[in-house]
Amino acid sequence: MDRKAEGVHATNAEFLRYDQVGKTQRYHLAESAEEAFDDECQIRTCDLGRWLAGSPEDRRAFARELGEALEGIGFAILEGHGVPVSLYDEAAEKVLELFASTTLEERMRHRARRHGSVNQGYFPIKETSDIHPDLVEGWVFCRRAFDLGEKPDYREAEFWPRPGFEPVFRRLAHAHEALILPVMQALLTHLGCDPGLYDRRLTGTNFGLRLNYYPPLTATDDLSGAARLLGHEDVDLFTFLPAPEVEGLQVLNRANMKWVRLRAPRGTIVLNTGDYMQRISNDVFPSTTHRVAKPREATLRGLSRVSFPLAVYVWEDEMLEVLPGLGAPRYPPIKAVHFHTRTTSKFYGDDYAVTE
Ligand SMILES: [Fe+2]
Repeated sequence: MDRKAEGVHATNAEFLRYDQVGKTQRYHLAESAEEAFDDECQIRTCDLGRWLAGSPEDRRAFARELGEALEGIGFAILEGHGVPVSLYDEAAEKVLELFASTTLEERMRHRARRHGSVNQGYFPIKETSDIHPDLVEGWVFCRRAFDLGEKPDYREAEFWPRPGFEPVFRRLAHAHEALILPVMQALLTHLGCDPGLYDRRLTGTNFGLRLNYYPPLTATDDLSGAARLLGHEDVDLFTFLPAPEVEGLQVLNRANMKWVRLRAPRGTIVLNTGDYMQRISNDVFPSTTHRVAKPREATLRGLSRVSFPLAVYVWEDEMLEVLPGLGAPRYPPIKAVHFHTRTTSKFYGDDYAVTE
C-alpha cells in the first residue's frame, strides 16, 4: 500500500510536522465510521452590506459579528456582498464546460507546478494531494493566470486550455477581489488593530481560484472509503466559497469534535479563516478543518458537483508576523513563501518546501 492509498484510513496526526501553526484537533482524512455529527450548530450569517454601505455603527456591529463567528468555529456565511448570483450560475456552468470540453491530454499540458508559493495548474482525479485519493479534479488559477493588464507579456494560452474561459473567471476573481480589503479591515477592527494595516499588502495581492469538478461517483469509488476532498485546513488568510449547490461541505467543530454539515443559501459566500490568519492573529482566528463528503443519499451520488473557492494570499516575499496588541507572540515572523510551502508540502511532497 502506498501512502496515498493508506490515506483513506489515515489521521492528521501523521502529518503534524508540516503545520506551521498549532493544531490540537485530530481527525481522519476521509470519513470514518466512528465519527459524530453536530446537527445543532448553526454557522452564523453576517451581512457584509453593513460594512460596505453602512454607518460607523453598522461597521462596528458587522466586525463584531464576523469576528465572533470566526473566533468560534472559523466559518461564517456572508450575505449582502453585492456579487450577483447570475455570476455564480455562469461560473458553475463554465466549470462543467471546462472539464467536459477538454481532453485529459489537453488538461495534463497544464499540470500543476509551483509558482512562488502556490501549486498552480491542473490536478487530475485522485491527485489533488499525495496523501489521499481525493475524488475530485481541480484547477488552480493564480493572479498571474488572468489578463489584468499588469503584465505586458501575458499569454492566455500559457494558463488556459481554450479561449473563452479566462474572461468569465476574471470577472469572478475581480468580484471577490473587491471583498478582500473590507473583510480584512473588519477582522483587524475586531482584533483592535489599525483596520488599514494590511491594505498595502492586500492591494493587488496573489490569490488562488480553484475550480473543482467532482464527477458522479462510480460504484468502485463509492465503496473505496475515499472522501471527495480530504479533511484539511486552508493555508491562506481566508477563503471565499460561493455556496455550492450539491451537499458535501463539512466543518469540524473543535468545541465538541463533531462534524457540522454546512449548507449555505444560494447566492451567499462561505468564508473561513486559514493558517496565515491563525498565525498573524496569534491563534485568535483558528484555521478550521473541513472536507467534502459524499452526499448522504445514494441517488445524489450520481450527480456531479462543482465549487470554486478563492483563497486569499499575501505575495511570497511578505513577512507573516503576529499582529500588534495580541499578547506575547506564539510564533516568530516568517516569510510567506516558507510558511506556505512548508505547510503544503504535506500534500505535495517534502521537496515542495522552499527552505532557503
Ligand atoms: Fe479548503
